[in-house]
Amino acid sequence: MTTRIRRAIVAAGALCLAGGAIAQSAVDGAVKARKAHMQLYAFNLGALGAMAKGEVEYDAAAAGAAAANIAALATLDQSRYWPQGSAQGEAEGSRALPALWTSGDDVMAKAGAFREAVGALATAAGTDLASLQAAMGPVGQACGSCHESFRAAD
Ligand code: HEC
Repeated sequence: MTTRIRRAIVAAGALCLAGGAIAQSAVDGAVKARKAHMQLYAFNLGALGAMAKGEVEYDAAAAGAAAANIAALATLDQSRYWPQGSAQGEAEGSRALPALWTSGDDVMAKAGAFREAVGALATAAGTDLASLQAAMGPVGQACGSCHESFRAAD
């Protein structure tokens, strides 16, 4: 093998490795980002749940702010959170089920139902305790229904 060919092969190999490393870090970043996004949902929903259950005194301004946060989060473009190759078993720390990538219509329907429930919560949460309580159920169901279909139990 001539030195020139050997160099070309080494260079091509290095390129492949670099490409792989970039793709892998993009996948890892996406998994972290979507989990962080979910944690923000859970943090804000937790504050509302505590008020709805009477564990914390109802505070209209705080409830309105937490619900507005959830509604704002739900409007963010999340398409880059879910790259191919980031299902459970493919990417470290991922609990996303492979079905998420093959059930586009169902995912969109669940995401749509979620946004609707979150919109209603944003209107209701700052009104009074009874309105907050009534709006919590559909949101919890919407989170849960997506998890049931697309998130591994552990
Ligand atoms: C359209 C589907 C969908 C909706 C709606 C949804 N989630 Fe998730 N959620 C997922 C998936 C998929 C995962 C797994 C992500 C992963 O492990 O990479 C997840 C993961 C999580 C996690 C674990 C995050 C971590 O750090 O591992 C929490 C907490 C969570 N969701 C809370 C919520 C809450 C609260 C709501 C509603 C306000 C919600 N999610 C709505 C699909 C959804």
